[in-house]
Amino acid sequence: MKKLFTEIPYIKTERLVLRKIEETDAEGLSELVHSPSVYRYLPTFLFEQKYEDVHEVIRRLYDECFKESIILGVFMEEEFCGLAEIYGYRENTHKASIGCRFLEHWWGKGVATETVDALVRYLTQKTGIEIITASTMVENKSITRVVEKNGFLLAVSGVGEDWGYPQPTPANKWIWLL
Ligand SMILES: CC(C)(COP(=O)(O)OP(=O)(O)OC[C@H]1O[C@@H](n2cnc3c(N)ncnc32)[C@H](O)[C@@H]1OP(=O)(O)O)[C@@H](O)C(=O)NCCC(=O)NCCS
Repeated sequence: MKKLFTEIPYIKTERLVLRKIEETDAEGLSELVHSPSVYRYLPTFLFEQKYEDVHEVIRRLYDECFKESIILGVFMEEEFCGLAEIYGYRENTHKASIGCRFLEHWWGKGVATETVDALVRYLTQKTGIEIITASTMVENKSITRVVEKNGFLLAVSGVGEDWGYPQPTPANKWIWLL
């Protein structure tokens, strides 16, 4: 078993590769971070939004960001689709949280379903994680379907969370247990 956060994961699925983001991925990442439709259902404090310049984001992803969060690019045939994230690692309870976001033109093609499945497999089979959690906006029907299809159970529904907006965000808390 590998200890989470000791290396940058490289994960391959049938159609996708989840890997380290490189300087050459700046264009795709820039399109993503400037898409209001993508960030409508997301917290305001995601790392890729922290710096105006995406090159700065990329430079800091695997040092400053890596203290808390592993953000990987998701690619289909080397085309940038979006991001997958592992965060909230708790070594003592073998727990981690996951998230994802994709460019709009990739929506509805099963990319999120395959990404979440890949993250679950990687975490449980390679790193010894036994509990995976996810938080989603109640109104986000698409991600609700994705986590349900991947075997997550709804632990708490409609809890008000601080996602950085003026009002608490009604969120669903999901749990996946080995
Ligand atoms: C949410 C998101 C990750 C989904 O990605 P995706 O690649 O389109 O998801 P998939 O294609 O794997 O699956 C989507 C599922 O939702 C279903 N769906 C889509 N819109 C729906 C709606 N309004 N009501 C119910 N189900 C819906 C699809 O039919 C599909 O289910 P199916 O395979 O059973 O038909 C993507 O839309 C996205 O990046 N959104 C912006 C960021 C975001 O919301 N991230 C999640 C934050 S927690």
